[in-house]
Amino acid sequence: MADPVTSTDRRGDPDGRTVEGPSYGPGRGAPAENDFGDFAALLDYPVYVVTAAGREPAGCLVGFAGQCSIRPARFVVWVSKANHTHAVALAAEVLAVHLLPHDHRLAELFGGRTGDDTDKFARVEWYRGPHGAPILAEAPAWFVGRVLDRADWGDHTGLLLAPVVVHTPPGAVPVSSFRDVADIEAGHPA
Ligand SMILES: Cc1cc2nc3c(=O)[nH]c(=O)nc-3n(C[C@H](O)[C@H](O)[C@H](O)COP(=O)(O)O)c2cc1C
Repeated sequence: MADPVTSTDRRGDPDGRTVEGPSYGPGRGAPAENDFGDFAALLDYPVYVVTAAGREPAGCLVGFAGQCSIRPARFVVWVSKANHTHAVALAAEVLAVHLLPHDHRLAELFGGRTGDDTDKFARVEWYRGPHGAPILAEAPAWFVGRVLDRADWGDHTGLLLAPVVVHTPPGAVPVSSFRDVADIEAGHPA
């Protein structure tokens, strides 16, 4: 069965189980990691654009993220150490976490391009929102979270957020999930 999650990850190996380097989606090279990749291939989850205000705003598409406490409300996002956004997010007091509309444009811009060579914010409508966090005008829902902690557990840094300002629309909105955007090749190797 064709697997949309693996479509951009099966490079250079006839059995399609290994890849040349880390990427979002299954297959990382070592056998146990490939087995875990098979598990990961079954998953789907929301994707977000996480932004931070530095001297210049920065932001990237993030799938490694989720709520981790109800009371108090806590949410964690995992940002690759390789990303342009990483240093900006690490230095920031707050981050903005945006859900994405179903059309691909924001996901392609923030997931397929890197701030190392592209001014992503010149290509979208955005404004400085609560606590100066960059807010993407097209995002159907977002929150600004104060960074409470940073966890160095691998090639991504976890940033623990306490939501301080939340914006949601009155009705339900369709939002993008990992499978909707798995065809995008990450702008930065992870
Ligand atoms: C489907 C998909 C999921 C991604 N998930 C993450 C993620 O969870 N964390 C992360 O740091 N980067 C993730 N990325 C990669 C970054 O969004 C991408 O490399 C981006 O171009 C980095 O931009 P920057 O260098 O401007 O920060 C993902 C990319 C794609 C296409």
